[in-house]
Amino acid sequence: MQKPCLKEAKVRTNSVVKTRDYHIDDSLKTLGKNKKYFIRTYGCQMNEHDTENIKAILEDMSFTETDEMENADLILLNTCAIRENAHNKVFGMIGRIKHLKETKPNIIAGICGCMAQEEVVVDEILNKYNWLNLVFGTHNIDNLPNLLQKVYAGEKQIEVYSIEGDITENMPAKRDSKYKAWVNIMYGCDKFCTYCIVPYTRGKQRSRTMNDIIKEVMDLKSQGYKEVTLLGQNVNAYGKDLDADYDMSDLLEAVAETGIERVRFITSHPWDFTDKMIDVIKNHDNVMPYIHLPLQSGSDRILKLMGRRYTKESYLKLFNKLKEIPNVSITTDIIVGFPGETREDFEETLDVVNTCKYDSAFTFIFSSREGTPAAKMKDDISLKEKEDRLHELNVLVNKYAKEANDKYLNKEVLVLLEGKSNKGDNLMGYTETMKLVNVKASEEYLGQIVKVKITEVKTWSMDGVIVK
Ligand code: SAH
Ligand code: SF4
Ligand code: F3S
Repeated sequence: MQKPCLKEAKVRTNSVVKTRDYHIDDSLKTLGKNKKYFIRTYGCQMNEHDTENIKAILEDMSFTETDEMENADLILLNTCAIRENAHNKVFGMIGRIKHLKETKPNIIAGICGCMAQEEVVVDEILNKYNWLNLVFGTHNIDNLPNLLQKVYAGEKQIEVYSIEGDITENMPAKRDSKYKAWVNIMYGCDKFCTYCIVPYTRGKQRSRTMNDIIKEVMDLKSQGYKEVTLLGQNVNAYGKDLDADYDMSDLLEAVAETGIERVRFITSHPWDFTDKMIDVIKNHDNVMPYIHLPLQSGSDRILKLMGRRYTKESYLKLFNKLKEIPNVSITTDIIVGFPGETREDFEETLDVVNTCKYDSAFTFIFSSREGTPAAKMKDDISLKEKEDRLHELNVLVNKYAKEANDKYLNKEVLVLLEGKSNKGDNLMGYTETMKLVNVKASEEYLGQIVKVKITEVKTWSMDGVIVK
């Protein structure tokens, strides 16, 4: 048994990051024969992409996927630890699995992802949910075949490393989409914002080499993919941990030069955004003019307590530079009710929102995460007050989101049609600026980038028709 350790997860050293290749023994390739798996994913795009890897590994072992948990022989929850409510959802689901296991005791159930990296969670599992068969961490995904072999031999498996982390290349992926793909460019995070659990659950920042990334993008392009999204907690810091003479602007340029039709990247920490990168975005038509630029707070005092290393003024300066990218859309993340946030601090946040008029924003109430510095800060604002602030912020955010969308009415935009819309017989897709559009079109258009005229605009989506 290898349990996670909070103390170890905090450590950062100069140790060299090891890169290994994914390998599965032939003897394990039939372990899942006649068995079905069900996987539920919580959290961010990193987790979504990890799930794509896990699915492919399971299918390499002859498991087949089912959408119905009740029919599964193997159930996995790929979890997120970012806020309390993510936790609660997972524990609710664990309750449902327990129920199912009472009637079907042979079901194998396990959890992985960011909650599996938390010492407190694994302790709770060992105390209260000891019937779970498998717990594995974000650094242990490539070892899943061996872990499952032991589980099927009757041994419970807990394998969670809290080490800083390695890189596994050539992991297979069963991608959700045939048209757009996630591409990890880096793992982990070294920023240690005081409220955030991610540096503890994902380990130190490890960039993949430019060669490996470009190879993956070229492969995707030759398979017919139209869009790649470069993934990392701080993509702008890409390469800083490598002994290499390239950075994020060079990588972005190289990915653009592969000629793949659309390139996106998330998430950009304001701290590392360089002018060179802005130039690359401006100079390449296939780098999409869409930037997610988390603000978190507009108050310098709170930003300092959060450890974000920028000020309201420097954020706005960067924002204004980004606004010079033609047709750009900018979205953000905001936390309200950080420990000690006063009404005046909150008004600074509202002030930034009124200035930036974001295309949209994800807004959250601060959630205390055990082991982070902010969890120890004095928090004397009532939940009611925090909820009121969130509501006030959301009203403003929605107003600007609608205003941003309104500008699209009767305009022609390019949309990559990626799936069926859940409204009527339409298809859905995103504009270059990441606006969701429902388009009247038959299925033959799936996977195509088409010119669409916007006929109706709502706060979170638009309707349109194809123009020839
Ligand atoms: N790496 C990204 C953020 C990833 S987490 C960045 O630095 O911008 C996604 C968002 O969740 C964060 O931007 C933040 O707004 C929110 N978040 C993170 N920890 C939180 C916490 N403890 N409570 C509430 N929101 C949190
Ligand atoms: Fe969390 Fe900050 Fe890292 Fe983003 S940059 S993942 S908010 S520690
Ligand atoms: Fe959640 Fe882990 Fe992502 S905590 S937001 S799944 S990195």
